[in-house]
Amino acid sequence: MNDSKANLIQLSTDRLGDLGPIASAPAHKELEAVVQSVRKRTGPGSEYFGWLDLPKRRGEEFERMLECAKTLRSDVEFLVVVGIGGSYLGTRAILDAMEPALDSQDGPIVLFAGHHLEPSSYKRLLDNLEGTEVAVNVISKSGTTTEPALAFRLLKAKLEDMYGAKKARTRIVATTDASRGALRTLAEEEGYETFVVPDDVGGRFSVLSPVGLFPLAVAGVDIEGLLTGAAAEADRCHTAKIMDMPAARYAAARYDLYQRGMQIEVWASFFPSLHMVSEWWKQLFGESEGKEQGGLFPASVSYTTDLHSMGQYMQQGRRHMLETFVDVANPMPGPSVEATSADLDGLNYLAGRSVADINRVALEAVAQAHEDGGVPNMTVTLPYINPPSLGSLMFFFEYAAAVSGRLLGVNPFDQPGVEAYKANLFKLLGKPGA
Ligand code: PA5
Repeated sequence: MNDSKANLIQLSTDRLGDLGPIASAPAHKELEAVVQSVRKRTGPGSEYFGWLDLPKRRGEEFERMLECAKTLRSDVEFLVVVGIGGSYLGTRAILDAMEPALDSQDGPIVLFAGHHLEPSSYKRLLDNLEGTEVAVNVISKSGTTTEPALAFRLLKAKLEDMYGAKKARTRIVATTDASRGALRTLAEEEGYETFVVPDDVGGRFSVLSPVGLFPLAVAGVDIEGLLTGAAAEADRCHTAKIMDMPAARYAAARYDLYQRGMQIEVWASFFPSLHMVSEWWKQLFGESEGKEQGGLFPASVSYTTDLHSMGQYMQQGRRHMLETFVDVANPMPGPSVEATSADLDGLNYLAGRSVADINRVALEAVAQAHEDGGVPNMTVTLPYINPPSLGSLMFFFEYAAAVSGRLLGVNPFDQPGVEAYKANLFKLLGKPGA
């Protein structure tokens, strides 16, 4: 097995209870046609298939990103990433997952803004940046979303106040549409370094574009590794038979469970460092499928802590959900239990076992109990928490969302509901022309 294959995602569907034989059937009658429509880039939303190419897209802009990231890594202590939804969640997901590995590296600390409107949080951010060396990466595909636009206005003023207008311009990088929107106009007027959110890539599918790659490179994440892992998963999705294609099998299983009355899909992981990946996943599936009064509601829990809050509901509450465990085959190393002579806490029976081993047993125990309690569950396993495996995981879910949305009969690539709130907010705030 070569290195790129070592990071491919595995899917296990052997805990679907009574639904198993049908839900996991690889020969689902519509699946082949749907997968072909994604491979051939046909059907509703076909103008948004650019994400399929991102794992292998390089060129001048990629080199410029690496160069600019290198400069900022040596010049600044903080990078503030300003964005919301698809313009922020993927970056945060990978950074949170990679935090233990990045801890040991020099380089800027990444902070996030523009994904909320809490006043005190902005005050603290601006106060804490005083006197520091900071850069801002403002990311907005439309260039007009209220939350990031507002946060950027505050941060731009702060940078100009601290450094003067000329130097502030060298500390601002804008990632936006190639030609449209207020942010593009502003960036060109001010002469910022800019990167492009490709026209053919929607926000929630953009993590492997400059939207995610640039801030991740500034943080010191191996973005080549991320893309290599995604490319391996992309190759499999482009060429494998359905039976050998976990992304399609996952999409089919959740679709069948939805057809059988499940209303909620719960992402459950025993790795809290993946919590923000679950937030990214919620946007991916929520925005791709929550249309025409349908779609599974994507929810998430973080175990084992949530076994002591949501565990009761999961075991005995209303039976309208499936659970998708997201497991890590080879977690980063941690401590083991040592025997003590008195054994006052009664834990000597665990002596010699690692926390990783105990965590795995906990997953087994919960998955079995939940299946017995009437919650069909599957397990998606990533080999490691590292850039190639995370790249592979994200491409896996993107492909699955495209296939799954198509099975549901909706356009998986638009988000008219999100636009509705944005337009209303403009109107209520009195934006001219709204
Ligand atoms: O998926 C989407 O398109 C949205 O959730 C966007 O990511 C979010 O609204 C941010 O939009 P923009 O990047 O245009 O500021």
